[in-house]
Amino acid sequence: MTQKTLKFAVLPGDGIGPEVMDVALAVLDKVCTPEGIKLESTFAYVGGAAIDAKGQALPQETLDTCAASDAILFGSVGGPKWENLPPNEQPERAALLPLRKAFKLFANIRPGLLYPELVDASPLRRDRIENGIDIVCIRELTGGIYFGQPKSTTELPDGDTEALDTMVYRKSEIERILKVAFETARTRKAKKVCSVDKANVLTTSVLWRKTATEFAKNYPDIELSHLYVDNAAMQLVRDPNQFDVFVTENMFGDILSDEMAVICGSLGMLASASLGVGKNSFGNAFGLYEPAGGSAPDIAGKNIANPCAQVLSAAMMLRYSFGLNALAEKIERAVRDTVTKGNIRTGDIAFGGQSVSTDVMQAEILKRL
Ligand code: IPM
Ligand code: MG
Repeated sequence: MTQKTLKFAVLPGDGIGPEVMDVALAVLDKVCTPEGIKLESTFAYVGGAAIDAKGQALPQETLDTCAASDAILFGSVGGPKWENLPPNEQPERAALLPLRKAFKLFANIRPGLLYPELVDASPLRRDRIENGIDIVCIRELTGGIYFGQPKSTTELPDGDTEALDTMVYRKSEIERILKVAFETARTRKAKKVCSVDKANVLTTSVLWRKTATEFAKNYPDIELSHLYVDNAAMQLVRDPNQFDVFVTENMFGDILSDEMAVICGSLGMLASASLGVGKNSFGNAFGLYEPAGGSAPDIAGKNIANPCAQVLSAAMMLRYSFGLNALAEKIERAVRDTVTKGNIRTGDIAFGGQSVSTDVMQAEILKRL
């Protein structure tokens, strides 16, 4: 057997980032080592931790470490300590946006998964989600109003102030994110893509909808539908499982993915992948993998954080950047069995029942691998 070496950058960041990252690394070691797969992870500072240590949320050496890797495993960034910095220097924006830009991470994949056993964690009524939730948000991540130029604030001659953002999309940008959505739908049972836009108002959305309609002809096996974003926001809380895969532009995806996260119960369970345009040395997508939950500074260092989202993000890394689908599934099964069959849960998903520490959760997941 040839020895495989998985080279990835580890950016734990702030708050609970470092403690849940430790769990993910232990899990990776447990599944990879017996298969003769070597892990070569390189630590780098990011976010508030990088501001403190290096004076910048995304130091050049962190970018260099990422560039020398096949994937990035990311923790979370931000916290009260850095909240009073100017917005552009705050850890979230100053670390994440340039990372996305630098590595052309255009495809953000956010699975919205709620196990049936955890439906009580969702704010939705039980009868709407009896069998859990299983949908996927595909968000365009490097275009649209986030990055469009010009962007400016101008003091006008009449004494007023004007701020400007530009929303811009190329057809080719829309096509490449549609491809991710349709390919994702192909791997799923329902085989449906819902394209979300605001084509009744925005020019970029008119192009988006037209492009989606044309593009769908390449995928006769997938059913395409369209929704305006306001309606999509409503449908998502009304009946989330009417969706299978939905695909949308950057800012709509930002908003809808948070909505999806909350209806899926605990943020501690949700993973994400942001895939780049190029291929890594495995011939797969270079990607950044991060939990949805954020740095949760209020519970950091207390050994109570839910490590599942970070562990599931590591599983996504194995799948998308290293092509190790079977190992990814093994991890996903172990996490699922731990919280469902094992009933081993951190406080965020215990519903007042017995809750365990991060360490115990780690031991229980490892035990099932
Ligand atoms: C996200 C976050 C980021 C975004 C922020 C922190 C810049 O909300 O990943 O969804 O808006 O994309
Ligand atoms: Mg967001």
